Amino acid sequence: MKKHFCLQLILSGMIFLSTGLSGQEAQIINIENRNTQTLDGVWKYIVDPYESGYYDYRREARDQQPNPSKSESLFLGYKPTSPSERVEYDFDKADNILVPRDWNSQKEKLFYYEGSVWYYKSFDFIPEKPGSRQFIYFGAANYEADVYLNGSKLGKHIGGFTPFNFEVSGKLKPQGNFVIVKVDNTRKPENVPTINTDWWNYGGLTREVSIVEVPQTFIQDYYVQLADKNSSVIEVSVQLNGPDRANQLVAIEIPEAGIKGSLKTDDNGLGKTNIKAKDLKLWSPDSPFLYKVMLILNNDVLSDRIGFRTIQTMGKEILVNGKPVFLRGLSIHEENGVRGGRAYSREDAQMLLGWAKELGCNFVRLAHYPHNENMIRVADEMGIMVWSEVPVYWTIQWKNPETFQNARAQLCDMITRDKNRAAVIVWSMANETPISPERTEFIKNMILTTREMDPVRLVSAALERHTKEGTLNTQVIADPLQEYVDIISFNEYIGWYDGLPEKCKTAVFDIKYEKPVLISEFGGGALQGFHGPKDQIWTEEFQEDLYRETVEMIDKIPQLRGVTPWILADFRSPRRMLPDIQDGWNRKGLISETGNKKKAFFVLQKYYEKKKAEFPGK
Ligand code: GCU
Repeated sequence: MKKHFCLQLILSGMIFLSTGLSGQEAQIINIENRNTQTLDGVWKYIVDPYESGYYDYRREARDQQPNPSKSESLFLGYKPTSPSERVEYDFDKADNILVPRDWNSQKEKLFYYEGSVWYYKSFDFIPEKPGSRQFIYFGAANYEADVYLNGSKLGKHIGGFTPFNFEVSGKLKPQGNFVIVKVDNTRKPENVPTINTDWWNYGGLTREVSIVEVPQTFIQDYYVQLADKNSSVIEVSVQLNGPDRANQLVAIEIPEAGIKGSLKTDDNGLGKTNIKAKDLKLWSPDSPFLYKVMLILNNDVLSDRIGFRTIQTMGKEILVNGKPVFLRGLSIHEENGVRGGRAYSREDAQMLLGWAKELGCNFVRLAHYPHNENMIRVADEMGIMVWSEVPVYWTIQWKNPETFQNARAQLCDMITRDKNRAAVIVWSMANETPISPERTEFIKNMILTTREMDPVRLVSAALERHTKEGTLNTQVIADPLQEYVDIISFNEYIGWYDGLPEKCKTAVFDIKYEKPVLISEFGGGALQGFHGPKDQIWTEEFQEDLYRETVEMIDKIPQLRGVTPWILADFRSPRRMLPDIQDGWNRKGLISETGNKKKAFFVLQKYYEKKKAEFPGK
C-alpha cells in the first residue's frame, strides 16, 4: 500500500504520526508557490562557543527552566529596562550576517568555526487574510537548530540539509516580532553525517527562511505523479492540515492536459484518486515538459509545475518512458566555489547544472546530502535527472537507535520535499559504508521506508567493492545490499587510490546480479593550470590519462548503465592539506572552483557523446 507521506507510515503494523527525531511539525511542501513573507537578508549574529546563552554554569539548559536568567539567556532577546540592570548580550550591537548563507564563507573569523551561533531577526507581520494560519519555514540549518519566537521556544531541528517548519499562528504581532535561532554545526559521532566527512562543515542558516500564510485548513502535502510503469494514469494523494480536514473535496486541474479531477479526504484529511490521462506530453531529458498543476480547496488554489515520466529497471536496463537510457552523470557538492560557501540560490543551481549540461550530462548525483530545492527544480526545468542522497556516509553509528531515527527523518523529509519532481529518479541511502550486520540492517530499514513512501523511484547506494582475493585485479561487489537496491552502484578509484592509471588495463569486474550498474565515483586530483607529463601526479595530463583509461575500462562492464565521476568542481575539504596543490581543496573536479575546465572535462564530454548515440532513450 503506497503511503507517499511520512505522516503515516505502517511499521510493524502500527500507524503513527511521525514527527521526526526532533519533534518538528510535518513539512509543508511547495513553499515557493505559497503566500510567504521572506525573512531572508540581513540578520544579527553572536558567536557562542561555550553555549553560555543556552546552558547555565551548571550546564543546565536555560530554556528548560521556569524563569531563565534574563541576563544571559540569549533566546529571550531581552533588553535592560534600567541603567542598573545586568544583561550580558545585545543583539542591536551585534554584527550583521546574511541569510541564506553559511557563516564560514561570510566571516573570516568563522572560516573554521564549529560550534553555536545565535541568529536574530526582527520583523513586522500583518496577515494578508484575516483568520489565516502562519508557519515559520527553514529550507535548512546546518546542523542543529533551536528556534525561538518573541522569546518563546518553537522547537528544535536536527539535520543539516532538510527543511522544517513550526506553527506560529497567534504568536505574531503586527510590529516588533523577533526570531532567534541557535545553530550548532558541531560534528558528533552519533550525528548523520558523523564526525568524519570529506567536505567543509559549513554552518548556519544556509537556506531560505520565510513566514508562510495558509488558510485554517490547507493543503499541506501532496503527491501528483504517474502511476508505476503506466503513462496514462496520474496518481494523486493530498494531505490536508486543519480543523476541517476531514471529508473535504479537493479539485485537481491540469489545464494543458485537459484534466479536471477531484478527491475526498478521509477522517485524517488524507485523500487519494487516480486520474486517467491520455496523450500526456511526457517529461524527459530531451523534452523536460512541466505541466501547470492546480490543487483547489475551498477556492484556495495551490499551483505547481510537475513533469510526468515513468522510471523503471528491466534486467540491466534503466527505462525512462519505456526507453533504455545511459545515465551520463557527474557528482556535485552543494558549493559555489566562485562566490564561496554553500550553494543555495536559483542562480547557483543554474551555474552548477549549466556546467554539467555543457559537459553532456543528462544526470547528476547530488552528493552526499539533499541539496537545496532550487537544484531540484532547475534540474526539472533543464531535463537533468537526479540522484538524491541522505548523508549516511562512512562510519555512521549503526547500533544507535537515535542515529537511525535521525537518518530516517532526513530520508522522509528529502522524499517529502521532492517526490513531485520528475527529475528525481534515484533515492540513495548511503555512501561507502563499511559492511556489518548492523549497517546492512540499518540501511535495509531505510529502504523499507523509501519503498513505503515512494514505490516508483529507484533505490540505490554507493556500495562496497573490493579486489577479489588471489586475483590481480578482479573487482567484486560482495555487498549484501546489492540484493535490495534497483541499481548496483559503487565507487572505484583504480588509478588514484589503487595503483596508477595503467592499472585500469588489467581490471575485470565480476558482478553477479543482472541489474543496471552505475559507477557512482571515480576520478583523481589535478590542479587546474598545472601541466606536465601524464605520469606527473596533480597535473591536468595525469587526470586526463586517468579518465581515458577509466572510461575504456568501465565501458567493458556489460551491465553499465550510468556513471557519475567524482566530481564536477573542486570543493573545500579540511582533509586536503598539500601546499600549493590542494590548500584545503579536494582537486578531483573537472572544473576548478573558479569555473576553469581541466583537460579531463573534454575526455568525459567525448565519452558521453558516444554513449548518447548508443542509447535511444537519451
Ligand atoms: C570517496 C567519497 C567522497 C570523497 C572522495 C575522495 O569516495 O565518497 O566523498 O570526496 O572519495 O576521496 O575525493
